[in-house]
This record gives sequence, structure tokens and C-alpha cells, in this order.
Amino acid sequence: MTKVTLIEGDGIGPEIMEAVQAIFAAANAPIEWDIQQMGKTTLASEGVLIPDALTDSIRANKVALKGPLETPIGEGFRSVNVQLRQMFDLYANVRPCKTTEGIQTRFDNVDLVIFRENTEGLYSGLNVYDERLQIADSLSRVTAKGSQRIVEAAFEYAHRMGRKKVTLVHKANILKESGRLMLDAGKATAEKYPEIEFDDKIIDNMAMQLVIRPEQFDVIVTSNLFGDVLSDLCAGLVGGLGVVAGANIGEDVAVFEAVHGTAPDIAGKGWANPTAILRSGLLMLEYLEAVESGLKITNALNETLKHKELCTGDLGGKASTMEFAQHVIDRL
Ligand code: NAI
Repeated sequence: MTKVTLIEGDGIGPEIMEAVQAIFAAANAPIEWDIQQMGKTTLASEGVLIPDALTDSIRANKVALKGPLETPIGEGFRSVNVQLRQMFDLYANVRPCKTTEGIQTRFDNVDLVIFRENTEGLYSGLNVYDERLQIADSLSRVTAKGSQRIVEAAFEYAHRMGRKKVTLVHKANILKESGRLMLDAGKATAEKYPEIEFDDKIIDNMAMQLVIRPEQFDVIVTSNLFGDVLSDLCAGLVGGLGVVAGANIGEDVAVFEAVHGTAPDIAGKGWANPTAILRSGLLMLEYLEAVESGLKITNALNETLKHKELCTGDLGGKASTMEFAQHVIDRL
């Protein structure tokens, strides 16, 4: 048994986490959950967004599965998600987007993985507002070290997984210095991996290419902001936010979470698709090398997703979150 920190999260978080726990239990996955709270819940109960109990738990367990957390817009809060990623230096945000049999989309051959730099850029938290002049500044801080390690992580992954190509996405024509740092890191790293094709694309062109010919991309490495936006775009290519998983990986801590947020429009209704968070749990099992239960759940999930009528509303079905979970359990 491996002890893992579980954060239920806000909005649809508790609903989708209940589904994951039920499926993991039915599959006898070798995981013991250490349930912790953070964000809005602990702000109300303890007056802090990130309590010590939570950080102690992650520090001890080194692995967490996290539900989505709400960040109120324009209320002076720094995103708890961003804070957590910076606190544990989870510099690589890895988001695989692959077409799934049974899920109808515009394309039937998407298979790409986004490596989003997760601690720097416009998410560095360097925001100031000059009340008198009514000017807002958001500073994008990029370091050579930060650029180097995310690019290295993308190439290393491509090498390990037998992937053919790494595409670096940037805006170095305008963001001369910060864009150049990552581009330079890309060119230098590519020389160490001669078997992997390397190219780069400017973000605006990339957005268009992805919706016209997504099959040309394999591993994508990019900055924090561009990676954030492209993740949702790529989620749209493979079935929407309900199905895309993610991992925040650092040197010795990893936090797994879906790409989607708290979905306030459907929270509390039992309509949310638990696939994205379940797949994040599967990435976690892969990371923990729990191969057998990972494979068992993956097969049961894929069998379920082949039948639209067994799926949740976002995939055209009528199942509730827990009915969908039960369909997966039935196929284990
Ligand atoms: P969102 O991802 O929560 O929702 C966007 C749309 O996708 C909504 O229509 C929602 O119903 C749908 N959707 C999302 N997940 C779904 C699922 N599992 N099943 C079915 N439909 C699903 O994005 P939004 O509305 O922009 O953000 C809401 C809140 O979530 C904000 O407070 C934001 O800061 C937070 N957020 C948190 C993240 C995290 O904790 N990692 C990531 C993104 C947003």
C-alpha cells in the first residue's frame, strides 16, 4: 500500500473524487488515501488557504491526487493551485491528449502530450496595480534554469516513450528575452537527442495548426500561459475537459489533477464526468509503478467509454457521475 494525499477540492471535486475512490477500491489498487482539505474549505474553517496539515501530508507522502480548487477572480487571492505548484517546485505540468474510441470528435488521430512550464512566466505572481495612475503590471519572470529543465523533461519523456518529435511553442518574435530563453534551451537540448525531430512554432500559428492538422504534433513544450491555453484547446480536440488528465511533477513530489476546474455550472448535480480525474489517478499509478491495477482500470474505463449511453452528459450519455463509475466497476 502506498499512502497518497487526497484533496477533494471545490465544486464538482467531491463528486468526481468519490467516483475515483470507489473505482480504485473495486480494483484493489494498492493506495491508502490520506484525505486533506485546502482552499475555500479551510479558508472558512481555519482562515488559511493552504493549511500546515496539508503541506505536511504532501511532504511526507510525496504524491497527491487533487480535485479542482476555486480561485475567486479579482478578490486579491493568489491562485492556490499556482501557490501549491510553486511551493513544491512542481515545474512540469504534463497533459496527455489522445483520441479515445467511442468519444466522437472532429479528429480521430490525435495523440499528443503537452509539457507546460508550471512555476514561472506570467504566473510568477508579480502583479502590481498603481492606484493613482490606474496602471496594472503583470510581470513574466522566466529563468534559464526553468526553461532548461522543462525542455529537458519534454525531451527525456519523448526519448523514454519512443515519441518522434518535440515542438516548442513560443512568442520569441515579440517576447524577445523570455521567449528566447526557452527557444535557446530547446535548440541546445535537441542536439543531445538526435533521434528526436525538433521544431518550433509561434503560439498564434500553433493555435491554428492544432485545429486544422493536430496529428502533426507529438510532444509539445511551452510556457506557463501558452500551455494553460493550449491544454484546454487540446482537450477540445479529444472530447472536452471531462476527459483530459494532468500531472504536476517536481524533483521528488508529484501532484496529479484533471485539466478542468470546479465546473460551478454543474456542481452538486451529479452530472460531472469523472474520467479526467480518474485518468489523472491512472497517471499517478503509472508514476508509482502500480502497473497491474492501472491496466485493469484503464481497460475497464476504455470499454465503458465505447458506449455513449453509459457515459455522462458531456459525452452525449445520460449517466450520473456515480452511475458511470459503477459501469467502470462492472467492467473491471
Ligand atoms: P471549468 O473547467 O471548471 O469549466 C469549463 C466548462 O467545462 C464548464 O462548462 C464545465 O461544466 C465543463 N466541465 C469541466 N469539467 C467537467 C467535467 N469533469 N465533466 C463535465 N463537464 C465539465 O472552468 P471555469 O469555469 O473557467 O473555472 C471554474 C473555476 O475553476 C474557477 O474558479 C477556476 O479558477 C477554477 N479552476 C481550477 C483549476 C484547478 O484546480 N486545477 C483549473 C482550472 C480552473
